[in-house]
Amino acid sequence: MTKFLRATLLATAVLFANEASAATALITGTNRGIGLEMVKQYADKGWTVIATARKPSDAKDLNEVAGKYKKTVSVETLDVANPDSIKALATKLKGKPIDLLINNAGTLGDLPPQTVGTFQKDTFETVLLTNVYGPLAVSEALRENVAASQGKKIVALTSGLGSATLTQRRGGMYAYRASKGALNVSMRALAADLKPQGIVVGIVAPGMVETDLLAASGYKGPALKVGESVAGLMKVIDGVTFETNDKAVNYNGDVIPW
Ligand SMILES: NC(=O)c1ccc[n+]([C@@H]2O[C@H](COP(=O)([O-])OP(=O)(O)OC[C@H]3O[C@@H](n4cnc5c(N)ncnc54)[C@H](OP(=O)(O)O)[C@@H]3O)[C@@H](O)[C@H]2O)c1
Repeated sequence: MTKFLRATLLATAVLFANEASAATALITGTNRGIGLEMVKQYADKGWTVIATARKPSDAKDLNEVAGKYKKTVSVETLDVANPDSIKALATKLKGKPIDLLINNAGTLGDLPPQTVGTFQKDTFETVLLTNVYGPLAVSEALRENVAASQGKKIVALTSGLGSATLTQRRGGMYAYRASKGALNVSMRALAADLKPQGIVVGIVAPGMVETDLLAASGYKGPALKVGESVAGLMKVIDGVTFETNDKAVNYNGDVIPW
C-alpha cells in the first residue's frame, strides 16, 4: 500500500468516525434570544442541531444560521403549547436519535394581567401552557428519540423567579414565577420517571440575559450578553449527570435554591 493510499484511507476513516460521533441537539424556541445563540454555539462546536421555531418562515436570523451550517443545522416547526404541533414533529423525527433535548422556549406573558389587582386568566393559561406543559409534552413526545441516543439528556431552562427561596424578596410576575416553579418540580418528577430509560433530566438557568424577554420584564440592571450566557450554559448542561441533576444550576455553576 502506498503512503498516499494509506493517508487517504486514514483520512476517510477519521471522517466517518467524526460523522458517526456527531451528537444531535434539538432546541425549542430558536428564532431569537438564547435559543438562537444556542443553535450558533452548538453548531460551531460541530453538533448536528434540529432548531425549532413556531414560524420558521419568519425566522430570518435562524434561517441565516441554518444557511451557514447547511449540513448540520435543520429548522423544524414546533409550537410547544400546541399538542398537534408536538405530535407532528415527533412523527417526522420518529427513529431519529436525539442526544440532547433543550427545552428553551418560554414566555414571560404580559405583566399587568399577572399583577395583583389586574389578574387575568388568559395570561396565566398561556404562560403555564408554554412554560410547563410545553417542556413536559415535548419531552414526553421525544423521549424515545432521546433514549435511542448516546447522550440521553433532557434539560429545561428555568429562572431564579421560579425559586421559592428567592421569591421571599419580591412580588409580581405571578404567572411566570408560578410557571418556572412548576417547571422545576415537573422536571424533577420527569427525572424520576425517565431514569429507568437511562435518560438524565436537568434544570439549568441562563442568568439575566439581554433578550426581548428581559427587556419586557422592565429590568434595568446589569445583564449578560447572550453569547456569555450560552457559553456558560453549555458547560453546565455538559455537567448534568445522574449525580448532579438534583439541583437547578445557573449558567456560571451557581446552584439556584428551590
Ligand atoms: N433572558 C433572561 O434573562 C432569562 C432569565 C431566566 C430564564 N430565561 C428563560 O430562557 C428561555 C429563553 O428566553 P429568552 O430570554 O431567549 O426569551 P425570548 O428572547 O423572549 O425568546 C423566547 C423564545 O421562546 C419562543 N416561544 C415562546 N412561546 C413559544 C411556543 N409556544 N412555542 C415555541 N416557541 C415559543 C419564542 O418564539 P416566538 O418568537 O415565536 O415567540 C422565542 O424563540 C425561556 O425559557 C426563559 O424563561 C430567560
